[in-house]
Amino acid sequence: MTYETIIVEIEEGIATVTLNRPDVLNALNSQVFNELADVAVNLGEDDSVRAVIITGGDKVFAAGADIKAMASLTAVDVAASVRPSLRAFNLLENMHKPVIAAIAGYALGGGCELTLTADVRIAADNAQFGLPEIKLGILPGGGGTQRLPRLIGAGKAKELIFSGDFISAEEALRVGLVNKVVPADQLLTEAKKMAKKFAARGAVAIYLAKSCVNEGLRMDLEMGLQYEHKCFGLLFATEDQKEGMKAFIEKRKPNFQGK
Ligand code: CAA
Repeated sequence: MTYETIIVEIEEGIATVTLNRPDVLNALNSQVFNELADVAVNLGEDDSVRAVIITGGDKVFAAGADIKAMASLTAVDVAASVRPSLRAFNLLENMHKPVIAAIAGYALGGGCELTLTADVRIAADNAQFGLPEIKLGILPGGGGTQRLPRLIGAGKAKELIFSGDFISAEEALRVGLVNKVVPADQLLTEAKKMAKKFAARGAVAIYLAKSCVNEGLRMDLEMGLQYEHKCFGLLFATEDQKEGMKAFIEKRKPNFQGK
């Protein structure tokens, strides 16, 4: 997989996708969004890939959508287009495998919104998060007004959206925006460690568990519980369920095949 604005490396079942526009702090333009959408489809179809890490490297995650590319857009341009960002973010959020965002430096605007599509966020201690769109006279248009309140609650989300203020990695941890904070030089090591743990689990069970959480957030509790029950039952048709329970009884580690 060769792209111009992202780098994709696959090692031992873990795909690492690195945003690669360093001159503009990894600002996200249409090409980045299209390449992210493409990579989400390709990695999704690659059975050898068991977990995905999205990162911007050790200096910056992404400083948001590309403001220079957006500045001259009209309302009609925006309203009439199928927004590449929405397509990319939906494809990433709905990947059938675990996705970890490994975030160093700024994760702002669309960059912060990109992290919200991941299942888990690991922040370097130098990370800063914010939705500064309000300072540009717009609002977060990459899912920030929807995914952020679902993650951290409406009150804190509104404070971030209305103020445009940045918060530190520690504050992001405190409000539940990230799962853990690690020293900057340990970021990728920690993300890979977590990715390997996920990759060793049953891939179908991970996919259905992810689906239960994601779909469940769109349902009322009763519907969500019914959906969970169906997915739970479905897993009893997998070889991984037989292997997982047999391994427990035989007091050994399971060897999951993802089927
Ligand atoms: N779009 C385009 N270019 C950007 C950019 C962005 N979002 N963020 C930074 N850059 C560019 C700068 O223009 C600059 O380029 P030049 O060297 O050619 O001037 C280069 O990256 C380095 O940036 P700075 O010189 O500004 O670096 P800094 O360290 O002084 O400041 C910063 C860093 C605080 C992140 C500052 O760059 C900044 O505020 N960036 C914009 C953040 C922002 O408003 N993001 C939201 C964008 S809108 C959005 O995302 C919409 C949406 O909902 C999808």
